Amino acid sequence: MSFNEIYEALNLIKQHNKWRRKECINLIASENVTSPLVDSVYLSDAMHRYAEGTPFKRFYQGTRYIDEIEEKTNQVLGELLGAKYVDIRPISGTTANGAAFFALATHGDKAMVLPVFAGSHVSHTRFGILGALGLSEEEMPFNSEEMNIDVDNAIKKIRQIKPKLVILGGTVILFRHPIKELREVTEEVGGYILYDAAHVLGLIAGKQFQDPANEGAHIVTSSTHKTFPGPQGGLAFTNNEEIYKKYKKVIFPVFVSNHHLHRLAATLITAYEMKYFGKEYASTIVKNAKTLAEELHSYGFKVLGEKRGFTETHQVVLNVREFGGGTRVAEHLEKCNIITNKNMIPGDTPEMVRDPSGLRLGVQEMTRMGMNTSEMKYIAELFYSALIKKEPIEDVRSKVVEFRKNFHEVKYTFNIDLNKFSEEYLPIIS
Ligand SMILES: Cc1ncc(COP(=O)(O)O)c(C=O)c1O
Repeated sequence: MSFNEIYEALNLIKQHNKWRRKECINLIASENVTSPLVDSVYLSDAMHRYAEGTPFKRFYQGTRYIDEIEEKTNQVLGELLGAKYVDIRPISGTTANGAAFFALATHGDKAMVLPVFAGSHVSHTRFGILGALGLSEEEMPFNSEEMNIDVDNAIKKIRQIKPKLVILGGTVILFRHPIKELREVTEEVGGYILYDAAHVLGLIAGKQFQDPANEGAHIVTSSTHKTFPGPQGGLAFTNNEEIYKKYKKVIFPVFVSNHHLHRLAATLITAYEMKYFGKEYASTIVKNAKTLAEELHSYGFKVLGEKRGFTETHQVVLNVREFGGGTRVAEHLEKCNIITNKNMIPGDTPEMVRDPSGLRLGVQEMTRMGMNTSEMKYIAELFYSALIKKEPIEDVRSKVVEFRKNFHEVKYTFNIDLNKFSEEYLPIIS
């Protein structure tokens, strides 16, 4: 028996924690951090349990508290998201999508989806669950200058090809998508609008973005860990009872059995954080993204969406081809402790998937760590130092580590002394 193996494993995660939580500027648009309170709730006996079915109608015994937690989580999320029916059982955004596609369409049906360069997620494509379910992918007309759906041409195409699903929302989303504008024609051809809110759920909960369930989306799917700063997971919601019934029948038993019960209470606490701090958090995110975009633009970076003011969300998208493309730039920034991801942008061809021209940034995590517009200006300056002024990597990295020292605490959460609180409530497993 060797404890060295244990130390080695522990050391790896310790190094990861130190690097990403204390020494990096994290700008991956699909990530976030949970609060210490949520972290404490996450680690519970619930992670060992099963609860197939819906609250109070289970296939296993032992779920009396889980039933209450799950019911409450759906209820509080419903209040936040303006939805009568919420299902927290999908264990990820991809699972939420798979269940929605399977519930509303059948093999051979058409789905109209954004092109990858315009922000569709892999689950919306022939390479992902959409294709695996036998649905065909039809390209949504997109206006690259506006960085949004081309409504007139989308209406024409929906009339012409009669898709069963019109998928809005996406992995790149700078501006509100035209739900109201596409609802009537989608219904006219017997289809459904599915809005994938994975990226913008926190902005919706904070009332700083569009309100998909009430603007006409038949169903909304999402992750729970991007702008909504919860544990990794998924959900779906709707105001349509018939659609909810169809979804309920599919999520279990087709897409989940056990739905990872420890995340339920942690998601409920996050929902309360968003209830009390969500408006301020989401409005700061949007202000920060806009500031970062404007500053980067003023340093000479090519920022997409200029015509519309760059962004209305947490995201900023750059064309970095002149600096060697998305892969090279993301790798260079990583060496400087600035974590981003490469992304396809309009003009890129499918063959460029491994070296696209774009770089996608999201400010939601750094906002959660307390950064405001002045910090966004400094981040833009660091981009300038790293990519235009070409300062040595070590110099930029030291500046990043120094800068991050002031932002180690998660904000927009309850001011609870966890040491005192934990004596009574938190030593859940021992
Ligand atoms: C629009 C969109 N939908 C779905 C997903 C998948 O979410 P998950 O990683 O929770 O499966 C993502 C992931 O980034 C996404 O951007």
